[in-house]
Parts: sequence; C-alpha cells; structure tokens
Amino acid sequence: MYILGGASTKNIAENLSKRLRQPLLGVIYKRFPDDEFYVRILDDITGQDVLIVQTAYPDQKIIELLLIQDAVYDAGAKKITVILPYFGYSRQDKKFEEGEAISARAIAQHISLHADCVITVDPHKLHILKFFTVPAYSCSAVSPIAHYLTEKNIDFVLAPDKGAKERAKEAAKLINCEYDYLEKTRINGNTVKITPKKLDAHGKNVAIIDDIISTGGTMTNSIKELKKQGAKTVFVACTHGLFIGGAIEKLLAADCDEIISTDTIETDFSKVSVADCIADTLLKTDLNIKN
Ligand code: R5P
Repeated sequence: MYILGGASTKNIAENLSKRLRQPLLGVIYKRFPDDEFYVRILDDITGQDVLIVQTAYPDQKIIELLLIQDAVYDAGAKKITVILPYFGYSRQDKKFEEGEAISARAIAQHISLHADCVITVDPHKLHILKFFTVPAYSCSAVSPIAHYLTEKNIDFVLAPDKGAKERAKEAAKLINCEYDYLEKTRINGNTVKITPKKLDAHGKNVAIIDDIISTGGTMTNSIKELKKQGAKTVFVACTHGLFIGGAIEKLLAADCDEIISTDTIETDFSKVSVADCIADTLLKTDLNIKN
C-alpha cells in the first residue's frame, strides 16, 4: 500500500505512513502560470492499494483531489481510499431553501467517481456519508482533543450549541469533568446569538468544544458569556479550524486563553493530529492493512 499526501495535508499523511508502516508515494505537484494544477505519480502503483489524504477545502483543494484521484486511477491502482480530513461543503447538507444545490452531495458524488472507500473526520452531520456512492466512514477527533486538554486542568466543558452537545459530553467523560451546552441562534453566516444561561463556570478552567471554527462568531459569543459568569480561563478547541477573516483576532479580543485545533486544516493552531483516529478507522474497516 502507498500513502499519498495532498499538497496541504502533509502532516496527516506522514503520521499515517509512520503509524501504518506504509511508504509515501512519490508525486510531483505544480501549478501552471495560469494557476491550473498539475499532478504526476512517480512510482509504479499498478495493482497497489493507495490512500489519498487530501482535505477538500477550499475549492482549489477539491480540484486538486479530483486530479490526484484521476492520476492514481489511471496509473492502475487496485483500490483507492480517499481520506478527507475536512470535507468542505458538508454544512450545505440539504436544501435550506428551494432552488439550492445540495453541495455536500454534489462534491461527494464527484469524489466517489475514483474511490473505493472514503473516510472523513467529524463531519458536521453524519448523514452526509450517504451522499458518497461508495462505502464512507467517519471518525472522531474528540479523543485526541480531550487528551490534549487533560494537560490543561480543565474542570468544565461547554458545547456552544445543542449540535455540539454530544461532543462536549464525550470530551467531559474523557477529561472526567462536568459539561453543559448553550442555545445558539444563527442570524446569518456572520452573526450568531447566544441565549444567556446560568453555567456552573465561576472560577473554573473551561474548554469550549465544537466541530468547526469558521468566522469565530459562535466561540466569541460563548467566551464572552463564560467570562461574564466568572470563568477563570477559557480554552477553545475545534476539529476543523477554518479561521475565516479575523476569527483569531476576535477570539483573542474576547480574552480566550488558548486556541486549539487539529491538523485537518493545517494552521499555527493545529496542536492535535487526527492521524491516529484515521489509522484506527482504517484498521477497523476492511482494508487489509497489517500494522
Ligand atoms: C455550526 O453549527 C457549527 O457546528 C459551528 O458552530 C459553526 O460552523 C461555527 O461557525 P462560526 O465560527 O462562523 O460561528
């Protein structure tokens, strides 16, 4: 088996290669003067299984992924497993209004063209797995995030909305502390409203855990609520750190003590790797990998 890391997903690919003891595939990436992407596979992969690791975000990375899949397929790979550490467009998982595209389905169907299996990490909603026309699995980054937070003496975990409640519950169980959740209303893409709620956070070290930090609005409002209620320190942790626009500045201005994300999108805040969660899922699925 070979592992191929996309141009911006090297950390996970290298960690997976070490953990599964499988080599990285030789590959050349470049961009033409007009910015179009070019990929060339260097090793002979005829009859080999290949794991392609590529975050499908932003748009450019989706094109890269489709071209990488085409090259691997055409080079004669026997089985292609696509690892999508972050599956962009997964939040548009249904028609919210008539006439809209179901973006997650459209992207999933194209990725399925040259894939035998897909694995993604903490998709916003699990049902998006059904949009792939090949077997698709998800794994969770809660455990490595909770492991990182254990070092921070966290004594309270907060979910910024009901959708993140189960994640917070699971993390709190692993950290061995209490958890609660907030009620959030999204006004538009950039604005959210948090309904004030009495939390047992006074004098405590709190971690707010969510799947995605995008504009940072959800986390910023949650930090403010916690600080108002006398929380001692507030850590924000997410699986997918998109950090759009001034998200980091907003979080710091709200007096956040630390920002933590995983390497599904590689940034300066990628303090936790999801490689082990992916490797565990690969080993559980029928991929014939001997570790
Ligand atoms: C939405 O329900 C997600 O779980 C996140 O809470 C959301 O994507 C965060 O977005 P933002 O950082 O823009 O508030």
